[in-house]
Amino acid sequence: MTPAIEIRNLYKTYRNGTEALSGLSMQVARNCTTAVLGPNGAGKSTLVRSVCGLCTPDRGEVLIQERRIQPGSRDLATLIGVAGQDNDLDPDETALQHLWFQSRLYRMSRATAHHRIEELVELFQLQSHLEKPARNLSGGTRRKLHCALALIHRPQLLILDEPTVGMDPEVRQEFWQAIDGFVRQQQGTVLLTTQYLEEVDRHAAQMILLVDGISGYQGCTGEFKKHMHPDSTESLENSYLTFIRQHRHSIEQGGLQ
Ligand SMILES: Nc1ncnc2c1ncn2[C@@H]1O[C@H](COP(=O)(O)OP(=O)(O)OP(=O)(O)O)[C@@H](O)[C@H]1O
Ligand SMILES: [Mg+2]
Repeated sequence: MTPAIEIRNLYKTYRNGTEALSGLSMQVARNCTTAVLGPNGAGKSTLVRSVCGLCTPDRGEVLIQERRIQPGSRDLATLIGVAGQDNDLDPDETALQHLWFQSRLYRMSRATAHHRIEELVELFQLQSHLEKPARNLSGGTRRKLHCALALIHRPQLLILDEPTVGMDPEVRQEFWQAIDGFVRQQQGTVLLTTQYLEEVDRHAAQMILLVDGISGYQGCTGEFKKHMHPDSTESLENSYLTFIRQHRHSIEQGGLQ
């Protein structure tokens, strides 16, 4: 099966001279969750923004379902739903008003929107928060609302930048039930960034480890653990830490090109 997203040799240097992506190539498989991992500043958000058309790379290609889609195009907006790392809500509008507003952005009819909002409220367990103005929502609930907003138009591809930051264990479990349901029941594809390795181990079929703007590893978490520790059973977190230490060490030695 062709990948949902293919990235070829992507470069991005910001105006201040910071090179955030340095020739990144990667593939995101369809109908599963792919997690992008990596240290702070590795280029994860730059990658996500490039896929969504919110940031223009200097070089390279982003193909979504084999098509090169122009930033801001209607095709792109229909195909993907996005919740970024610093998304904002209108503090005076309620959660329900945000959902209605989002449905109007996608020109959904009142009846379709009504039905979809009911589904999303159920999926993300937002029932008791609907009438609260956004300023009164807790951090975890805001993040669930962002995901519900991203899914309103039934995109095939959901892209989330650190969606579970600040979620308590119960909210996190509700969140993952919704995401796993999107993948299994609606044949959705999810690309997300996270620093929580235990949730990657449990919910992501694939991982992409970014270091210094390039891909250090792509594959399934089980293979990565075996690759890093062939003779022992280690957690994904320990395997990740070993990888990062080895990477830093080889940079210091000048051995990694
Ligand atoms: N708008 C910008 N202007 C200049 N430099 C930027 C900008 N956005 C990001 N950077 C720099 O680009 C590099 C990659 O940043 P990016 O936000 O993509 O990393 P990240 O992996 O998402 O980090 P984090 O885990 O902290 O979210 C960093 O060095 C960052 O400081
Ligand atoms: Mg980031």
